[in-house]
Amino acid sequence: MENWCTRGSARMGGIFGAVSKNGGNVVPAVIEGLKRLKYRGTDNSGVAILADKSLEVFKELGPIEKVASKLRLQEISSSIALGHTRFATHGRPTVENAHPHVDCEKTLAVVGDGAVSNYEELKDKLLMEGHKITSRCDFEVVAHVMEPLLRGELKPREIIQEAFSKLSGYFSLALLHAEKEAILALTNGPKLFYGTSNNYFLLSTSKYALHGYANHFGELRPGELLILTKEGEAIYTAEGARKRPELTTLEADPSLIDKGGFKHHMLREIHEVPEALLRTLSSVQQKYLNLAGKLLTGAEDVYVTANGTSLHAGMVASYYFSELAGISPIVTSAAEFPLYYLENVGPGTLVIAISQSGETGDVLASLYEAKLRGATILGITNYIGSRLARLSNLYLPIAAGPELAVPATKTFTSTLLLLYLVALRASSQLGKVSESEQKTKLEIVKTLANQLSEQVRQIDEEAAKAAEQLASCKAGYVVSRGLTYPLALEGALKLKEASYFHAEGVEAGEFKHGPFVLVEQGFATTFIIPVEKVSAEATYPLIEMARQTGATVVVIGSESNQKLHELSQDGVTVIRAVDADRHLAPISLAVPLQLLAYRLGEKLNRPIDTPRHLVKAVTQQG
Ligand code: F6R
Repeated sequence: MENWCTRGSARMGGIFGAVSKNGGNVVPAVIEGLKRLKYRGTDNSGVAILADKSLEVFKELGPIEKVASKLRLQEISSSIALGHTRFATHGRPTVENAHPHVDCEKTLAVVGDGAVSNYEELKDKLLMEGHKITSRCDFEVVAHVMEPLLRGELKPREIIQEAFSKLSGYFSLALLHAEKEAILALTNGPKLFYGTSNNYFLLSTSKYALHGYANHFGELRPGELLILTKEGEAIYTAEGARKRPELTTLEADPSLIDKGGFKHHMLREIHEVPEALLRTLSSVQQKYLNLAGKLLTGAEDVYVTANGTSLHAGMVASYYFSELAGISPIVTSAAEFPLYYLENVGPGTLVIAISQSGETGDVLASLYEAKLRGATILGITNYIGSRLARLSNLYLPIAAGPELAVPATKTFTSTLLLLYLVALRASSQLGKVSESEQKTKLEIVKTLANQLSEQVRQIDEEAAKAAEQLASCKAGYVVSRGLTYPLALEGALKLKEASYFHAEGVEAGEFKHGPFVLVEQGFATTFIIPVEKVSAEATYPLIEMARQTGATVVVIGSESNQKLHELSQDGVTVIRAVDADRHLAPISLAVPLQLLAYRLGEKLNRPIDTPRHLVKAVTQQG
């Protein structure tokens, strides 16, 4: 099994299954479970049931309520059912791409969370073998891969080993086995919980969704197999040995269930950053990454166009492209691009259009105008059903999972990763990094995700203390340089959105050229220590200058930085970020900034998820 695990508390996905202990109807419980998982995606919803040992699958576009009413799910009855709510990362939101998926003989129905990264190879192989593949969804191939493993007597060890040797990526999956009248589940990282009460055995991607249906719950560990039947829950270790379920009393605050147990979507989404990175990593298909690399290296000129947070990600990417592939793009706001940059756009131009929503008016106008002039468009978006995806020559999915809070967080860090992957692939195509260096760098991403996952709570505590300091300030700066200068801009934007705190991003070298005039007691200066040693050295005197004025000073840096430790000993409020490879540092350092903005917003009682005047997708131009 590949090593993908994170130990974070918040996960994405949308699986809910139930088996009745006494032959009762479980469909209403599954519908309610899926309603509670809506924050994990509502592109499609579907339910598989058994009627006289035959599988029946009901699936449609949209959230479960819509699907339930359209397909009259309230009228169906079954003592075993498996449901899914989907966020599309492979295959656009269409009915065919919705889960559950069935194998050729309809012996099992599969739902999944995460991504199968060798989907394209498996699909080609299965088609050659004569299987019928009817969708563009990666989990359809899982049904065909799993079916031969589940014929005859179930052999847990073989099922586990074969499934994880054939399927790559970061995923959990559950399947409804018609003949055995059982739900089987496996994971190599994404959370899966099982629950039990007098009436049900249950399965869900969130323990909170089990509230009211289960009194006790347990967690399926990576590599284990769970088999739920009306007789009970059987758990097998990766070696195929039966183990006792480890059950804990389920306690959940009903008011937080629809946010996965968090007070705000923004907080949940920041906690999901580590896992979103793994989702991004496993979702991007090599075939398309190769094409993206080729577009980049083959272009005569390259523009990156985006707005807001996505623009800041594009600014970081210009360092990636230039340092890894020797390509220096022009990075511009999508509000500027169609007005001022079209003169030189033509065949040979690559426009990289970034928009997490894929519906931002200025980004769409940019790509429309560029396309008219013969440019090629590489779209980067979290919503593959969006207009950006449809209008791009090639798009890559950010695959961070739905982001419901207006302040963008996990989509930012996952966009950074995706752009880094494109730069890395271009670099390898140019012969600048070897195959093995590339592999090592991908392993480093996984390590970073795991460390972030382990440390996010500690970072949050430090951010909350820093927010206490900022709360009494009238305004502030976020200061940095180089690769992390766009983060200063992003940090200031997050402070405005989440906490209505006026902040400006300042390039450290410019600090003395004007901005310093405002620094005094009651003014907040947040420094992000640059990742380049020489730039870091140049920042320490600025920190000292700010301190001398009596201003509130917060310093964010890598945890192993000795200076950060000294500053902390000296009474300066510091937030320690996870140590990261230089190019991944913007990802690591974004998390403390996001948490600082969140905690300040919470302290100041702001409507964090829905700041006034703002919407998640600015569809109007200008
Ligand atoms: C920041 C934020 C906005 C968006 C901007 C672009 O938290 O939400 O600044 O980043 O409106 O949105 P997308 O990426 O959807 O094009």
